Amino acid sequence: MRELWSQVDQFIDGALIDSDPAAPARAAAEDAGLPPIAVTAGMGKFLSLIAGSIGARSVLEIGTLAGYSTIWFAEGIGEQGRVVTLEADPRHAELAWSNLQAAGVADRVRLEVGPALDALPKLEAESVGPFDLVFIDADRKNNPEYLGWALRLSRVGTVIIVDNVVRAGAVLDEETEDPDIQGVRGSYELLAAHPRIEATALQTVSGKNYDGFIYAVVRR
Ligand code: SAH
Ligand code: DHB
Ligand code: MG
Repeated sequence: MRELWSQVDQFIDGALIDSDPAAPARAAAEDAGLPPIAVTAGMGKFLSLIAGSIGARSVLEIGTLAGYSTIWFAEGIGEQGRVVTLEADPRHAELAWSNLQAAGVADRVRLEVGPALDALPKLEAESVGPFDLVFIDADRKNNPEYLGWALRLSRVGTVIIVDNVVRAGAVLDEETEDPDIQGVRGSYELLAAHPRIEATALQTVSGKNYDGFIYAVVRR
């Protein structure tokens, strides 16, 4: 099925994405041997459209990789907007910065290198935020903590999107010993119990296999 999902992705890209501003970033990541785990073009444009639809001026991204999704966000928020993106791996961050410059959006982006759980308290201490949109796409074991930080850096109406929350159905495994899946499951539990958030999740298929994302809105 994955081959078919991949072909349909290509069909959708061909029909609806006549120019992908982040395509050179994906190519550079591939050349550098980074893992091919950036969002698909369809998902990148979707994130960009959501950011534009809610009039987002500030986006927080946890997990930059080579800046593919960052560039889509930067497009979606326009010249006046700002993306803060957090990346633990200096090698990823270095390539991301050169990709952001090549895409002409580096002046809208602040890239923090180091573990996100170190950067997030720093952002709070600096009173950066509240953010209009938060995208969580890093080490899934920490997703519940990232959600907590997303809330602290949010206002009523902030949209929080969490990538990779289905993992080909592994999310169903209540007995899992995998810390990443525990983190994914923990996100649902936290959201279900949280009085300030309304959330849903959508399953996706693509060349990246069978996965999904959470879409949450801070309500009060
Ligand atoms: N959002 C990107 C893909 C991110 S892949 C895109 O769609 O283009 C996940 C990234 O999270 C990797 O680059 C990985 O190095 C980074 N990461 C992993 N653990 C992290 C941590 N604790 N803090 C910050 N980044 C982390
Ligand atoms: C994978 C996919 C992702 O979107 C991600 O952020 C990390 C890993 C994967 O398929 O392994
Ligand atoms: Mg992801």
